[in-house]
Amino acid sequence: MTSAPNTADLFAISLAVTITAPEKRPFPARLTQSMVPEAGAGTQACRHGQRELTARRAVSDCIVVVNFKTYQAAHGASAEELARVMSGIDTEARLVAAVSALDLSAVVAAAPDLEIWCQHLDPVGFGSNTGWLHPETAIERGASGTLINHAEHKVSIEHVAMLLDQVPEGFEVCACAADVDEAMALAALVPNYVAVEPPELIGGEVSVTSADPGIVSGTAAAVREVSEEVGILCGAGVKTGADVAKAIELGTIGVLLASGVTKAADPGAALSGLTSEL
Ligand code: G3P
Repeated sequence: MTSAPNTADLFAISLAVTITAPEKRPFPARLTQSMVPEAGAGTQACRHGQRELTARRAVSDCIVVVNFKTYQAAHGASAEELARVMSGIDTEARLVAAVSALDLSAVVAAAPDLEIWCQHLDPVGFGSNTGWLHPETAIERGASGTLINHAEHKVSIEHVAMLLDQVPEGFEVCACAADVDEAMALAALVPNYVAVEPPELIGGEVSVTSADPGIVSGTAAAVREVSEEVGILCGAGVKTGADVAKAIELGTIGVLLASGVTKAADPGAALSGLTSEL
């Protein structure tokens, strides 16, 4: 359907895309409760269309998204086990598992209280769309959000815009960007989140927050200029609580990571560490 977008053209293209979302259907998923801001939480809330900017951020507004990708320790029955481990982590931060579409139903059944996202969706409806990932089916199977335009699954900006148009209010979309320009272009479409991940740092040993803190703070500032409604995440090489704390300090509301958990000898300990400084 798509090829990698030309970054130089992304911002201009995105501004030309008309997002018509006022007729969105309500999201019927089981997890809508987690999207309701807690009473008295004076914070920059994460939920789309429900943000309230104030000086302080609550832990419950911080989000750690674990992308299972197709890692061996995070597929099939192992995906179910990892989701159960995530469910058992004692934290007020939001933990989200982004799982393979093939594992979605089983993971939802294994960890019914955990927020589960897809790793990708296509803006298709019912009908002749062999092999495409249909949003309505994902929602019926328990997904409460999705990644889109991940560095390992690039799509066009039109793909992102059409997906945002199609999904119901409350279904969260995290659009991934390789750099500040792409983040700005995607932010103009007002997804729930933009996650900046330098491709060269993905899967590496050094966190983006140490290797290139400027891209994180630069993205945060640039996205904030485009839209105050978009939550900012960062990812690539994130592995420790200190990495997460630094991400927050640089202007994000959380992180998107994979190998720090999926390749950890003890994923539960890794998750506890990641949330330890929130
Ligand atoms: O989607 C998260 C990912 O691209 C970052 O991967 O392994 O560097 O945490 P990793």
